[in-house]
Amino acid sequence: MKAPQSLQKTLGVGLTAGVTLLWMLALLGALYVSQNKLNELFDSTLAETAHRIMPLAVVEIINRENLDQPQQIMSFEAHDKQFIYLVRDALGRILLQSHNADPSIFNQTLVKGFSSSKTHRFYRTSAIQNTLHIEVAQPLIDRREAITQMAITLLWPLILIIPLCFIGSLAFVRYSFRYVIAYRDEVESRGSSDLSPVKMDGLPTEIITIAESVNNLLDRLRRALDSERSFTANSAHELRTPIATALAQIQRLQQKVSAGPIKDSMVKIETTIRGLSGLSEKLMQLAKAEGGGLLSTERHDLISLLSMIVDDTRRSNPGKIITLAIPQNEAFMSVIDPDAFAILIRNLLDNAIKHGISNQPVEISFSSKGVLSIANAASVIPVETLTQLRQRFVRSNLSVQGMGLGLAIADAIVTGVGATMTFSSPAAGRVDGFEVEVDFSMILK
Ligand SMILES: Nc1ncnc2c1ncn2[C@@H]1O[C@H](COP(=O)(O)OP(=O)(O)OP(=O)(O)O)[C@@H](O)[C@H]1O
Ligand SMILES: [Mg+2]
Repeated sequence: MKAPQSLQKTLGVGLTAGVTLLWMLALLGALYVSQNKLNELFDSTLAETAHRIMPLAVVEIINRENLDQPQQIMSFEAHDKQFIYLVRDALGRILLQSHNADPSIFNQTLVKGFSSSKTHRFYRTSAIQNTLHIEVAQPLIDRREAITQMAITLLWPLILIIPLCFIGSLAFVRYSFRYVIAYRDEVESRGSSDLSPVKMDGLPTEIITIAESVNNLLDRLRRALDSERSFTANSAHELRTPIATALAQIQRLQQKVSAGPIKDSMVKIETTIRGLSGLSEKLMQLAKAEGGGLLSTERHDLISLLSMIVDDTRRSNPGKIITLAIPQNEAFMSVIDPDAFAILIRNLLDNAIKHGISNQPVEISFSSKGVLSIANAASVIPVETLTQLRQRFVRSNLSVQGMGLGLAIADAIVTGVGATMTFSSPAAGRVDGFEVEVDFSMILK
């Protein structure tokens, strides 16, 4: 697939290239017209010079005693002569020439009017019934220099204009795109759980239809997700009472039956009902984790919440060693909803107790920077499995009961509040074990 291109850059470069091209075309046109006008001007000066010199030359030649001797007009002061001339008779004999004239550069045959050689432009006119001919020459280099000077003068501004035009078009395009950029930033900065309509203020007509379609899509997605969540939550809630009733009845029945195959079957039924009860509880948690309301308006101290949950877990798991390392006399205030935080911690602790080696401790720590770590001894989980554990119903330890929902719930909460969760196996500083780290430092305190 072609790599995406920046529209701003493409427009900036395109506009600059367009302006430069137009400028060059205008420059070439101006040079073409100027060259023609300059040639006309130079030609008329050349002809004028010939017509001015001719009468003087005629007088000079007529007054001369020895006509066979060519005469060279001396220059009064050394200067770079633009014009040189030759006065010849009808046979081509040179009668008069300017002091710096080289006869070899002139036309050898008589050409009336204007003519050009590789190096000079000539004008020839005649007098006294075509017996005297004057040919004035001007070096073409003078004309070329003039036109080159003009081209350079017109090109200079272009060197300044190209970068200015590029910066100017980029700034203008950026200014015109300000609402599109604001729209992009808003879409980019949203968390995955925010499905509210994106603001469309000031968007240009070309984009507004896309933005409207995106908002319609978000709306449909939100309604679909809401109905899925409410279905999960409602079903789990509706299941609670019948499951609790069935559990109570089976426990009562067990007391009435003495040991034997019927009692064994009843114990199995009780285990299944307990599993069902756990499933409905996890489904309720998942519905909460994936719904909104994971952030509260008030701030709560995560360290004291964590200590309370750990104490509670210690009480319900008397034989288990659970260590807790927290910064002393410090609080970590956060806007995360206390219920959501409790569900997250309980799921992670439940995993550490359930999947960890039973006689080994569970080590919990919470740093003053807001990083929670829960580590336990366990056999190493391969990396391929580790990356999939946060998906629903994915499990790697099948020796204990579970649905594979705990880490999916934890992941939904962590993502929903804007924190990050990483798993490592083996745990840091060990050869085996499992460690989960949740970084709360990014959440607005
Ligand atoms: N602390 C841990 N130590 C070792 N393995 C773990 C730990 N936590 C999770 N795992 C592995 O990740 C898998 C997925 O965990 P998850 O919490 O999603 O499901 P579960 O604990 O098996 O079931 P549930 O939480 O729904 O009762 C577990 O089956 C287990 O293999
Ligand atoms: Mg679990």
